[in-house]
Amino acid sequence: MAEPARTPFPQTDGNGPRVYLHTYGCQMNVSDSQTIESMLADSGYRFSETAEEADVVLVNTCMIRETAEVRALGQLANLSALKKSNPTRVIGILGCVAQAKRKEILESHPYVDLVVGPDSYRRLPILLEERFISPPGSPGLLETTLMREELYDDIMPRHHGGVTAFVTIIRGCDKFCSFCVVPRTRGRERSRPLPSVLREVEHLVSQGVRDIMLLGQNVDSYRWEGRDFADCLAAVADLPGVVRVRYMTSHPTDISDKLLKTMGKHPKICPYLHLPVQAGNNRVLNEMNRPYTREHYLGIIERARKYVPDIALSTDIIVGFPTETEAEFEDTFNLMSEVRYDTAFMFKYSERPLTKASKQIDDIPDDVKVARLERLIKLQQKIARERNEAQVGRDTEILIEGLAPKDSNMWSGRTPDFRPVVMPQNGEQIGDLVPVRLDSLTGFTFHASKLF
Ligand code: SAH
Ligand code: SF4
Ligand code: F3S
Repeated sequence: MAEPARTPFPQTDGNGPRVYLHTYGCQMNVSDSQTIESMLADSGYRFSETAEEADVVLVNTCMIRETAEVRALGQLANLSALKKSNPTRVIGILGCVAQAKRKEILESHPYVDLVVGPDSYRRLPILLEERFISPPGSPGLLETTLMREELYDDIMPRHHGGVTAFVTIIRGCDKFCSFCVVPRTRGRERSRPLPSVLREVEHLVSQGVRDIMLLGQNVDSYRWEGRDFADCLAAVADLPGVVRVRYMTSHPTDISDKLLKTMGKHPKICPYLHLPVQAGNNRVLNEMNRPYTREHYLGIIERARKYVPDIALSTDIIVGFPTETEAEFEDTFNLMSEVRYDTAFMFKYSERPLTKASKQIDDIPDDVKVARLERLIKLQQKIARERNEAQVGRDTEILIEGLAPKDSNMWSGRTPDFRPVVMPQNGEQIGDLVPVRLDSLTGFTFHASKLF
């Protein structure tokens, strides 16, 4: 039987192959997907809303916890069905699972055409082209060589509209926290040249973006020609047309007082700090290879509140790290009541391949992890509610991001410290900064009225 014909490639007449790209994981993956889309659009591809109508189906995967990996790999069953329904369709696995589990994917899923890791996306157009000209059923192609210098800094990511956008300033991670797989999936840390960061921000501003989120696994390590992260943040905030700048993630070992002071001085830098603590006990922090103490961490929080009045704080916490005792967990619980975060992302420890902690026995039973997690979540919900209630009556300003999801007569936006707000429409436009009073609170959303 003759092989079915593949779509001719490349096509630059606006009728190129259609790509469906689905993204899991963190903002870094979302940002990478926008870079990928930009490269593919330049090669003549179009994008489709569904996998069924696509000629190329790509899945950008995450494996930070086992549940994320299971979710990503669970997609493979659907992908197998998509391949069966159209054998000429090209199936590609990208992202962190592609990097760490490359061989396993190709060996156990023969219908996968491409496995491409986060530092090899530049090769995607060529690999897809090879795939289009090779007969269906050829062995899948693997591209996960870590190109240490890859920054994609000459590619303007595809912006999806809207007033907010991510801009990656540093890739990879050198911290090797003992629980974390990221240094194994995203390679060594490298900063992007400041001029290319600024160029991308200017480009986004020209497309209507007002609110910039600078991204990196550890933005505080940013270094370029003697400039540090505080310099980078201030330079972005100084660009005309930028209304707000935010960033994530910071690391307690590297965050500087200079950064906190820069935040306090610059009105466009949002008073919001995401500072993952992971645990409140010094022995557990040491086991996690987080080289700071509880006392050092609390010192940063104190200075953040001093230099940036009304700063909103958020964190990440892991419960049930191997050998964590009840008393040590209690230290994490107490730290949360002491800091009083506005938001916290709380996780059960999940053993990850290739990490140092995976050599230890995952000895905390699941029911103990669940019980610890539930206690923390309950505490955090109470604190978040109280901190939100204390905001009612406050005057602030919101950046209008779009129509309120539940009522198209209302705008939805956020305060500088990132609290969601809805307000009645009164001639404003998306992207406007509007002075408001926070009148009331429903769940986690404020209702506001315009001040003048
Ligand atoms: N670079 C950032 C975030 C990395 S991943 C940082 O340093 O904080 C986001 C969060 O996932 C981490 O902060 C951590 O709390 C959580 N996480 C990472 N590995 C995990 C694991 N093996 N089990 C449970 N949670 C984990
Ligand atoms: Fe993972 Fe630690 Fe790096 Fe964050 S700093 S990405 S938790 S290794
Ligand atoms: Fe996941 Fe990779 Fe991000 S493992 S959290 S997508 S860096």
